[in-house]
Amino acid sequence: MHKDRLHAKEFQSTVLAWFDREGRKNLPWQTEPTPYRVWVSEIMLQQTQVATVIPYFLRFMNRFPDLQSLAEAEEDEVLGHWAGLGYYARARNLRKAAQIVLKDFQGELPADVDALAGLPGIGDSTAGAIVSLSFGLRGPILDGNVKRVLSRHAAIKGWPGEAETVRELWRISESLTPFERVADYTQAMMDLGATLCTRSNPGCDRCPLQAGCLAYRLDLTAALPSPRPKKDMPVRHCLMLVLHDGEGRFYVEKRPPAGIWGGLWSFPQFDSRDELLGWCQLRNITAGLESLPERRHTFSHYHLYYTPLVGRVDPPSGIAESTVGWIKPKDASPFPTPVRRLMLEFDATSLRGTG
Ligand code: ADE
Ligand code: SF4
Repeated sequence: MHKDRLHAKEFQSTVLAWFDREGRKNLPWQTEPTPYRVWVSEIMLQQTQVATVIPYFLRFMNRFPDLQSLAEAEEDEVLGHWAGLGYYARARNLRKAAQIVLKDFQGELPADVDALAGLPGIGDSTAGAIVSLSFGLRGPILDGNVKRVLSRHAAIKGWPGEAETVRELWRISESLTPFERVADYTQAMMDLGATLCTRSNPGCDRCPLQAGCLAYRLDLTAALPSPRPKKDMPVRHCLMLVLHDGEGRFYVEKRPPAGIWGGLWSFPQFDSRDELLGWCQLRNITAGLESLPERRHTFSHYHLYYTPLVGRVDPPSGIAESTVGWIKPKDASPFPTPVRRLMLEFDATSLRGTG
């Protein structure tokens, strides 16, 4: 056998033997791996850990048990089931893709990497994961976990966000992916990356790939994968106006569809105190505003520093616009995480306080 084929065979049998011993086999999307369920789980797992995803996944499946129910749901409700997971474009794309599949593919997700990767929110790696985990077809993957395992195992230098490095890692992933037991292999590679070959302090002592791992042999596990070339994340500041009525109701506005938190309900935001005060004046809001210490929320590409200004007011009766309103937060309302946190804080405070 050619030495690359031999290397691949050995790699696969090592990974599969580890899967048989240690791999996760009872995750909710594994026990019933329909294309729809695997797809939703993979989208949730793109930026979120398994333990966090599980309850969201179960609630989501309860409410949207099949592709059609997702395609026909209001965007607000889908976002509501996503609130807290972050990266809300994932939820909007999920619904959009479901509508396309309903219209163009008779409601069945296609068993084809290229067709899947043409749908909103599905990249090459997610498409590979869906065909392998659900259809049992050979579909190489290259998500963050697998990038880390492969760049260490083969000691590939270069930031795995760079096109050239990514091409090389895809070549390796393709050459190593087996034709049989591809679902187990794919799950095993993800689990290896998530549980053993972790970003810091990888568990090389317990790793089945240790004997063939170049990073381990060359003492490069801490240096690989190469970090993103240094560039400080930009920082933005804003003020967040938290108006509540002392009885658990908050004033919120629906954010425009584009931009951060698109389509979610949020507190009014301002760039400056003058702007905020002007907004209040216009609405005859004269309550004293208490300024809380600044907090930080980190997005993938910048830090948002926000200062909450809190005031108690009596809501005017009969606000009937669809994009603003006084509401009592419910679990399934689509709020960004910082907004939800502030609401919890103030609900708790008003409960503890004067009542
Ligand atoms: N990350 C992405 N997909 C995953 C999966 N199916 N299992 C564990 N971690 C994952
Ligand atoms: Fe990762 Fe260590 Fe295993 Fe190499 S030996 S693949 S660095 S956990």
